[in-house]
Amino acid sequence: MPQILVLHGPNLNLLGTREPDIYGRTTLADIDRGLHELGAELGVDVVCFQSNHEGELIERVHAARDDGTGFVVINPAAYTHTSVALRDALAALGRPFVEVHLSNVHRREAFRQHSYFSDLAEAVISGCGAAGYRYALSFAAEKLAQETRI
Ligand code: DQA
Repeated sequence: MPQILVLHGPNLNLLGTREPDIYGRTTLADIDRGLHELGAELGVDVVCFQSNHEGELIERVHAARDDGTGFVVINPAAYTHTSVALRDALAALGRPFVEVHLSNVHRREAFRQHSYFSDLAEAVISGCGAAGYRYALSFAAEKLAQETRI
């Protein structure tokens, strides 16, 4: 079964209680559970990983080079705006990815307007709340299904 790796960056473990007016009340566990259920419907394996540490996220991307990952869904959180190293890891992985943000980063502070990931991403979803992850997973599953049909 095709495998999709879902990566969550720093502070996303606090979802549900972290600035709920911006990020909503859905917890990370709720998001991951919903993605596993949707993955089962779509016929893809979903693997979720969250870390508050840049190096751990980078090492998880390295591991994806030979663990069967076909597509990545990533919310790099604050690393979106700072991490050349995580960007380089995804570039080295060479698999397509969707960049997800719960909030609409373009409506927020100027420092959130720049992403080190968007120009490498297949797609960017920003401002749809937790549903953005589901849209990203559906898109990724469709892309993987197209690849196997070709
Ligand atoms: C975020 C937006 C980032 O600017 C912020 O640092 C986050 C979450 C989002 O999902 O809206 O931690 O990626």
